Amino acid sequence: MALRTLLLGAFSLALLSYGQPEALENHNPSDLLCTCNQIALAISDASQVFFPSAPEYLSDIEHATPSSTEVSACSVEPGSAEDVGVILRILGSTRTPFAVKGGGHAFNPGFSSTRGVQIAMTRFNETKVNSMTSTVDAGAGLIWDQVYKTLEPIGVNVLGGRLPGIGVAGLTLGGGYSFLSSQYGLTLDNVAGYELVLPNGTVTNVTSEDDDLWFGLRGGFNNFGIVTKFILKSYPQGDVWGGIRFYSENQLGAIREAFFKFQQKNDTKAEAAVSLSYSSGQVLCAVLFFYDAPAPSGVFDDLLDIPATGGNVSTASFFDFFQSLSAQGGVDSRRIFGDTVSVIQYSPAVFDAFVDQTKLWGARLLVLDESATLTLTQEPFGKGIFSHGSGSAYPPDRSHVIAPSALTIAWSNASLDDTIAFALRNISNSIRAAALADGQDVSRAALYPNYAIFGTPLEDIYGGNVERLRKIRAKIDPKDVLGLAGGWKF
Ligand SMILES: Cc1cc2nc3c(=O)[nH]c(=O)nc-3n(C[C@H](O)[C@H](O)[C@H](O)COP(=O)(O)OP(=O)(O)OC[C@H]3O[C@@H](n4cnc5c(N)ncnc54)[C@H](O)[C@@H]3O)c2cc1C
Ligand SMILES: *[C@@H]1O[C@H](CO)[C@@H](O)[C@H](O)[C@H]1NC(C)=O
Ligand SMILES: *[C@@H]1O[C@H](CO)[C@@H](O)[C@H](O)[C@H]1NC(C)=O
Ligand SMILES: *[C@@H]1O[C@H](CO)[C@@H](O)[C@H](O)[C@H]1NC(C)=O
Ligand SMILES: *[C@@H]1O[C@H](CO)[C@@H](O)[C@H](O)[C@H]1NC(C)=O
Ligand SMILES: *[C@@H]1O[C@H](CO)[C@@H](O)[C@H](O)[C@H]1NC(C)=O
Ligand SMILES: *[C@@H]1O[C@H](CO)[C@@H](O)[C@H](O)[C@H]1NC(C)=O
Ligand SMILES: *[C@@H]1O[C@H](CO)[C@@H](O)[C@H](O)[C@H]1NC(C)=O
Repeated sequence: MALRTLLLGAFSLALLSYGQPEALENHNPSDLLCTCNQIALAISDASQVFFPSAPEYLSDIEHATPSSTEVSACSVEPGSAEDVGVILRILGSTRTPFAVKGGGHAFNPGFSSTRGVQIAMTRFNETKVNSMTSTVDAGAGLIWDQVYKTLEPIGVNVLGGRLPGIGVAGLTLGGGYSFLSSQYGLTLDNVAGYELVLPNGTVTNVTSEDDDLWFGLRGGFNNFGIVTKFILKSYPQGDVWGGIRFYSENQLGAIREAFFKFQQKNDTKAEAAVSLSYSSGQVLCAVLFFYDAPAPSGVFDDLLDIPATGGNVSTASFFDFFQSLSAQGGVDSRRIFGDTVSVIQYSPAVFDAFVDQTKLWGARLLVLDESATLTLTQEPFGKGIFSHGSGSAYPPDRSHVIAPSALTIAWSNASLDDTIAFALRNISNSIRAAALADGQDVSRAALYPNYAIFGTPLEDIYGGNVERLRKIRAKIDPKDVLGLAGGWKF
């Protein structure tokens, strides 16, 4: 009962923000069960419908954070693109709310969860290397861990998630900031093609020859159908150097200066991210280092000179390096919301704003919920990151470099949901104000859709692209079938 109340709370929040069409009052439990049974009868042996008592059902609805999990009427695991088409036709004709889950890492409630029909893509789990074309076919139900593991012995790599557990689908459809992005661009700039099931159930391949769908799918998530396969560009991958080091509050001034110097160096093989969190009245700092070679150039020297309280950096295969980060990315039993702010650079003034917000909200939140943890991460990328692709839903403007940030709060008490959302918006607004005061023209800097909090206006993410995206959606999905699923809706 308590669990259910908790989940319903998360759902009404999503409903308020998006006004999911065909609200659930039109769908009593017996209508939903009827739709589930209709799907079960129509799909082939490759696919299966599960009900709440089945273990498959539980893993199908599970998300990386409990605040993104909802109790659906049933789950379905399609095993072929054709069956995805069959399912979409039934959901469309019965106007049944549904959700599509890849890796289930969306922070926003209702984006890949539903009280209607949960589609779990888990059976699309093939990773196929094509050395002739230097591409990798990756099924839409995979998490990056699985892809990296398959690619490791072959000595190639693709641009995917930086922490364990993240889905190929959501990360790729929303953008994709990877350890190789300063070198090769966003993940969506490294897609060679998609297998897509259109809203009317037709299976199609989308490539750069397709003007509108090619534009829309690169940043536009589930607005244009359900992707079953991604064809990703691959690159040779040797050993890498990296790891995480931890610092105490009295090193923050030194980190701030060294991190700023690092950003001026334009070494595209190097990535660093600085995370600040708050514990026992102290700001704790973690720096994530990555260099795409067995040993780094001198690019990190200033940062590495600063004495750390723990952590380590070393040379390893890409997969071993990635796996060593698992403690940071593990499933959290607490609720988690996230938001983001984009800046031109993490200047000393912006760094100070991150520190101030960590102290201010870190202390405030602990009074409300002793399990609350705030983590504010600065993620600079190379100045040429947007030069590796063109025309896509995200980013709306490739002429200016912007760096995303990941602002997250984990907590336990569900009655604090509104407070947490308020805190995140207050933090991102405060940091934006500090960047503007620092002379950075960020008033229209696009927000990364995979990090932005629910309720963010579409224009803040997709900028001047919103109108075109709305037109494409109206053409591809005239019956608004995908409007039955949550997310950023054009
Ligand atoms: C711990 C953690 C670390 C992260 N690190 C990074 C990072 O390094 N780089 C980065 O860029 N982002 C990162 N993110 C953000 C991440 O990219 C998003 O959370 C992403 O949406 C997750 O994809 P998913 O498939 O796991 O999510 P899901 O919750 O399954 O899906 C996300 C969205 O995609 C839609 N979708 C899923 N599958 C399909 C499909 N087959 N067809 C159409 N639509 C679909 C869903 O409906 C939903 O709207 C991180 C998130 C977390 C929680
Ligand atoms: C893919 O899933 C099928 C069925 O669920 C399973 O038998 C197979 O081992 C999986 N393959 C991989 C590569 O995980
Ligand atoms: C999509 O491309 C694959 C591989 O080239 C091909 O086998 C398949 O028939 C194509 N599907 C459609 C619907 O065109
Ligand atoms: C950064 O380096 C890349 C290649 O290493 C180069 O193409 C680009 O022009 C450089 N950018 C700046 C701003 O120096
Ligand atoms: C790496 O750092 C962690 C955290 O400080 C520590 O527990 C671990 O022992 C270190 N490993 C090595 C090989 O030094
Ligand atoms: C959760 O927060 C509410 C409102 O702040 C409070 O009344 C309640 O006691 C808290 N519950 C727990 C278990 O801490
Ligand atoms: C943040 O919230 C406080 C109230 O707690 C308010 O005074 C302040 O104006 C807010 N700042 C921004 C930038 O929204
Ligand atoms: C399905 O939609 C696509 C894209 O709008 C369209 O080209 C195709 O003709 C439609 N197919 C059917 C059977 O209606």
